[in-house]
Amino acid sequence: MRRTLVAGNWKMFGSRALLYEVVDRLQGAGLAKAEVVVCPPFPLLSVAAELLEGSTLRLGAQNLHAAAEGAYTGEVSGAMLREAGCSYVIVGHSERRRAHAETDADVVAKAAAALREGLRPIICVGEDATEREAGRQFAVVERQMAAVSAAIDVAELKSCVLAYEPVWAIGTGHAATPEQAQQIHACLRARLQALDATLAAGVRILYGGSVKAENVRELFAQPDIDGALVGAASLSPGEFAAICRTAEKA
Ligand code: PGA
Repeated sequence: MRRTLVAGNWKMFGSRALLYEVVDRLQGAGLAKAEVVVCPPFPLLSVAAELLEGSTLRLGAQNLHAAAEGAYTGEVSGAMLREAGCSYVIVGHSERRRAHAETDADVVAKAAAALREGLRPIICVGEDATEREAGRQFAVVERQMAAVSAAIDVAELKSCVLAYEPVWAIGTGHAATPEQAQQIHACLRARLQALDATLAAGVRILYGGSVKAENVRELFAQPDIDGALVGAASLSPGEFAAICRTAEKA
């Protein structure tokens, strides 16, 4: 059985005040079954770690550098994230692939760096609108997934989380339909199955892209959707708590 996971990707939004509010809401939501991860910007990680101490809520970062340390002004290493209290880190988000020209190889190197530090990478894959219009969505996610499985062995892949985030659904208000998402999730599950049956049964595949309280129930009802990576709705304490409560029942 895969434990439903909801991760809130704050992107470059939020504040200390919002953090207090979100944590307060989540702690009042009586979550026990689902796993919930909050991924605020770097400067809020340490204060979030203090707030989350003793709770079942987990902390995640939104990016890391692939190197252990070095003269990389403005960058953050996996060890620093672990020390700040993170247990998860998002890698390969389409906004980073696009705005920071991160390649499949960069994404894999970051995932490997996270694993070396005992962090669980949430590895994002997904096609853009042009690729979907050309019917290339399966080819794109398979390519992104193949890069990961070529470089990370099965034992380590067990600690990874995958997130299918179609670029055309991110921040647009138009989520993939549950059927569209399920098709890609099933494709990713089949890639995992080809590597190892236990791996395929255990790895969680999240859906991300305009997830809201009103559409999440149907998404979670799909057999290969094991949770959600939530952007905008994770910045609204009530809405995010509602999504997490739905995950409790999934
Ligand atoms: P969204 O973002 O929920 O605002 O569409 C999702 C994401 O980018 O992870």
